[in-house]
Amino acid sequence: MSKDIAEKIRSLREQIRKHDYLYYVQNSPQISDKKYDELMSELKELESQNPHLITPDSATQRVSGKPIEGFKQVRHSVAMLSIDNTYNADELRKFDERIAKGLGNKKYSYAVELKIDGLAISLRYEKGLLVSGATRGDGTRGDDVTNNIRTIKAIPLSLAGDAPDVLEVRGEVYMPKKAFEQLNEEREQQGQLVFANPRNAAAGSLKLLDAKITAQRKLSFFAYSLGQTSETFAKSHLECLEKFKKLGLPVNPNIKKAADIDEAIKICDKWEKKRYELGYQIDGMVIKLDQLEERDILGATGRAPRWCISYKFAAEQAQTKVLSIDVQVGKTGNLTPVANLEPVQLAGTTVKRASLHNFDEIDRLDVRQGDTVIIEKAGEIIPQVVEVKKELRPKGAKPFARPTKCPVCGAKAQKDEDGVYIRCINSSCPAQLKEKLRYFAGRGQMDIENLGPAVIEQLVDGKIVKDFGDLYSLDTETLAGLERMAEKSAKNIIDGIDKSKTQSLDRLIAALGIRGIGVQNAEILAGQFGSIEKIKKATVEELSDIEQIGPVLAQSIYEYFHDSNNLKIIDKLITAGVNPKQKQIKKSSELAGKTFVVTGTLENFKRSEIEQLIKQHGGKTSSSVSKKTDFVVAGENAGSKLDKALQLQVNVINEKEFLKMLHTDRH
Ligand code: IVH
Repeated sequence: MSKDIAEKIRSLREQIRKHDYLYYVQNSPQISDKKYDELMSELKELESQNPHLITPDSATQRVSGKPIEGFKQVRHSVAMLSIDNTYNADELRKFDERIAKGLGNKKYSYAVELKIDGLAISLRYEKGLLVSGATRGDGTRGDDVTNNIRTIKAIPLSLAGDAPDVLEVRGEVYMPKKAFEQLNEEREQQGQLVFANPRNAAAGSLKLLDAKITAQRKLSFFAYSLGQTSETFAKSHLECLEKFKKLGLPVNPNIKKAADIDEAIKICDKWEKKRYELGYQIDGMVIKLDQLEERDILGATGRAPRWCISYKFAAEQAQTKVLSIDVQVGKTGNLTPVANLEPVQLAGTTVKRASLHNFDEIDRLDVRQGDTVIIEKAGEIIPQVVEVKKELRPKGAKPFARPTKCPVCGAKAQKDEDGVYIRCINSSCPAQLKEKLRYFAGRGQMDIENLGPAVIEQLVDGKIVKDFGDLYSLDTETLAGLERMAEKSAKNIIDGIDKSKTQSLDRLIAALGIRGIGVQNAEILAGQFGSIEKIKKATVEELSDIEQIGPVLAQSIYEYFHDSNNLKIIDKLITAGVNPKQKQIKKSSELAGKTFVVTGTLENFKRSEIEQLIKQHGGKTSSSVSKKTDFVVAGENAGSKLDKALQLQVNVINEKEFLKMLHTDRH
C-alpha cells in the first residue's frame, strides 16, 4: 500500500514538473489551470498524510518554473510568489475563515483586483530611475529583460515626484486584445504560427532577444505590488497603489475595496459577467488583504502567500450543434478539419466555426455531423470543441471518415511523415494554389498590393493563373475582363506585380512557400547562397550544415528544388525578371560557436543586422556580458556592457575588427 502511495506521489511530481515546464518555459500549457491545481492539491494532500515522503525537490516545496536560457539571470531580493486559486464562493469563504482565524480579533478588509492575464514582472527603480526589469522565473531567479521592458511605453523610465532610494514595483505585462488580434493577423499573413492567446503573445514578445521587435508589440503594464523598498512605503495595499499612481505608474482603474468577503464575492461575480467588455484579457480576480502589517502575521506557504487568493473564472462554454465537418486545404496541402456550427454566442462573439485541429483529434472526441457539442474558447480566443454530448446524438450519425482524397481536387490524400496530418499530394491543387498565391502576394513576402483573395479566387477558378510564375505574364486587359474589376484597379494590380520584381532575395525565398521555411530561415538561406540558382544546386549536406537549418529542413528545401513543377515555376519567375541577388556571405570559421554581445551605436549595421550576421556565421548573440562572452563588439556610446566586459576581461573589438573577422566588407 505505502509503495503505491510513494509511486503515486512520484508520478504526480513528474506530471507537475512537465506542466510547469510547458507553462513557464515553453509558454504552451497543455492542461487547464484547474487541472493543474487538481494535480497540485492531490500531491499536497498525499504529502500531508505522509510527511516522511516529502523531498526538497517536490513541487510543493518551491515556486515552480525555470528561467529561459539566453538572458542574464537576476536574483529577486524578495521572492515573487504565486497565488493559490479558488473556483467558487465557498472556497473564498474558507479563505476568509483562515484569515479571520490567523488575525484573531484584528479588523481587516480586502482589496479586490482583476487578475490580468499576462506575465509578472519586477521593476527596480533606484533614486527614481528604472534600472532593471526581470521576469518571475522560478520565483527566486528570473530573466533580466530590462532592454525589452524599457520598450513598454506604460512603464515610466523615471518616476515622478519623491520615490524611496530603492523601490521595486511588481505588476503584470500584458497585450491588449486589439494588439493581439493585429499581431496574429500579421503573423498569419506572413505564414508564421499564431499565438493561442494574449498571455502567450505577451510572454513571447517579452522574451525576444531583439528588443526592437518587442518594441513593435504594443505591450502594456499594470502595477499591483511591492518588492524590495529602502523604506516603509505604505501601511495598506490601497495606499500603496495610490502612491504608485502619484509616481506615474499605471494602476488598474477597477481595483475596489471590500469591507468583507461577501462584498468581495459580489465584485467577483460582477466581473465574471463583464469581463469581455475590457480591452484586455483577465482570467479571474485577486483578493488581497489590504492591511500590510497584518499580512506579515499570516506569512506564506512555500508557493503562495496566505493573505491573498485568486478566484478563477470558469472558461465560458456554449452548447451548439455540428452542422457539418469541412476539410480545408492549406498552402502546402495539409488538410484541416473544421466544424461548421449552429451560430452561438460565446465570450462576446458569435461563433460559427470551430477548429478540430487534426484527424486524431476528431477520433479522440468522436465528433460526428449532427452531434451536440460543448465549445470553449481556448484563452478566450480560438473556439474549440471540448466535449461531445453522446446521449444527444441523432440516430444513424456516422463516424467521420478520414479523407482519402483531397476535397477540392480529388487527388490522393496521404498521411504525413509525422503521422498527424493528411496532405493533398497534388502540387497544382487549386485550393493549395489559392493559399500559395495569397501567401506569395502577402505583406511579409512579395507584398503585391491589391492582389486580394477575391481576385486570386477568380484567377485560379478561371484557370488564368496556374502557379505564381503566371502572375508575371498577366496584363491589364486580362484582369479587366474579370468580374467586378474596373480598368483602373486592373492597372493597379499590374503595377503591384511589376513592383514586386524588385523584392529582395529573402522575401522571394519566403514567398515560395517551401515547407518549414518562414521569413527567418529565408533570410539565412539568402545570406548563405546569394541567389536562387545557387540554392537550387545545394546538396542536402550543404544545407544541413547550416546551423539553423538542420537535416529536416535541408531535406524539405532539397526536395522543393528538385521537383520538376517547382523548377518550371522558378524558370518562369527568372524569365520575368524576378531574380534578385544578394551579396553572399563567405562563412568565417572565426565566428562559429562564439558568443557575441553587441553594444553602442554602430556605423554600418543596425543591431538586428549585425546579430543576424553573427548567427549566419554560426556564432551566438546575447544581450548581456558574462564570463561566457567571447567578444563584445562596441560602437559609439557603449555604456555599462563595455564596463562589464573590461572588468571581466572579455575581448572587446570595434566594428572594423569585427568586419575583419568576417572576412567580408559591406562596401
Ligand atoms: S499579486 C503574491 N495581483 O497572477 C502575489 N497578481 O497566479 C503577487 N496576476 O504571478 C501577485 N493579476 O502574474 C497579483 N492583480 C494582480 C494580478 C496578479 C495577475 C498574476 C501574476 C501572478 C499570477 C499568480
